[in-house]
Amino acid sequence: MIGNIDLRQYLQEKAAQVEKGFKTYLTDEDVPEPLRESVRYSLFAGGKRLRPVLLLATMEALNGNSDSGLPAACAVEMIHTYSLIHDDLPAMDDDDYRRGKPSNHKVFGDAMAILAGDALLTHAFETISHLVDTGHDADKVVRLTRELAHFAGIRGMVGGQAADLLGENQQLTLEELQYIHQHKTADMIVFCVRAGAILADASPSQINALTRYGRHIGLAFQIQDDILDVIGDEQKLGKAVGSDEAKNKSTYPALIGLDSSRQKLNDMIKDAKQALAEAGVEKTVLAQIADFVISRDQ
Ligand code: IPE
Ligand code: IPE
Ligand code: MG
Ligand code: MG
Ligand code: MG
Repeated sequence: MIGNIDLRQYLQEKAAQVEKGFKTYLTDEDVPEPLRESVRYSLFAGGKRLRPVLLLATMEALNGNSDSGLPAACAVEMIHTYSLIHDDLPAMDDDDYRRGKPSNHKVFGDAMAILAGDALLTHAFETISHLVDTGHDADKVVRLTRELAHFAGIRGMVGGQAADLLGENQQLTLEELQYIHQHKTADMIVFCVRAGAILADASPSQINALTRYGRHIGLAFQIQDDILDVIGDEQKLGKAVGSDEAKNKSTYPALIGLDSSRQKLNDMIKDAKQALAEAGVEKTVLAQIADFVISRDQ
């Protein structure tokens, strides 16, 4: 894909592709009604679908057939949605509003919200295994399954979430804060880019360069999330602002201020684009996604 396409339209089209995938892969008949409702409430609440779209866009940038990547794209959005349901629980960030609606636990109670998260996490692994049905070799599917567990798990997103909670009410160094952001948020984004690259048969050097792109835009995504928690519009964001300050969270604006945080964002996007050039995909929608990550207001 060359040139400047309409990113908003592209994101919408790809998000629709992901929604279609859920129709195929979210098999939830014959389960207790409140669990089914709780899972669907959050999964279809209108998230941006940035992670699955990034996975599909990476495949397309490398001339892969993105339809065949849908099981991986749906799996990653299931894990992301579970992470948000749990993130909002009273024992974690204690937030009452998400994706423009009351948080899952406010509607279904803590127990069902925990179980909806558990269900989405588990179902993601059933879902990604369907890559064998869309034409991918079993050894590639095993590799991706292992990477998904790695980037979502104890050394990935879950580890980052733990560090985030431990960092409340602490004066962290920039290095410690970067660890939190890299793991709680960037790791899932890195997975998406690597998965798209692996599915599209990228070379090892392309996978390395795209991993760097993922790290940069992933970290930038969380810094922008921190900035929006200070200056964003609740209506547009679909979640409360001021949540980080209320919990005395370690964030970029709290540690280095808004101006330096914005400067960091620009540097990171420059590095991300440099990595795209090294992978030979600088004139693709991936460059526009990098710009979107730091210009977004929702
Ligand atoms: C919010 O992610 C949580 C973070 C990792 C910052 P998104 O901003 O992608 O949330 P949705 O999926 O669009 O609701
Ligand atoms: C969330 O970070 C990261 C994950 C859910 C893994 P935040 O706690 O800053 O996300 P929001 O602001 O609640 O969406
Ligand atoms: Mg959090
Ligand atoms: Mg939160
Ligand atoms: Mg936040």
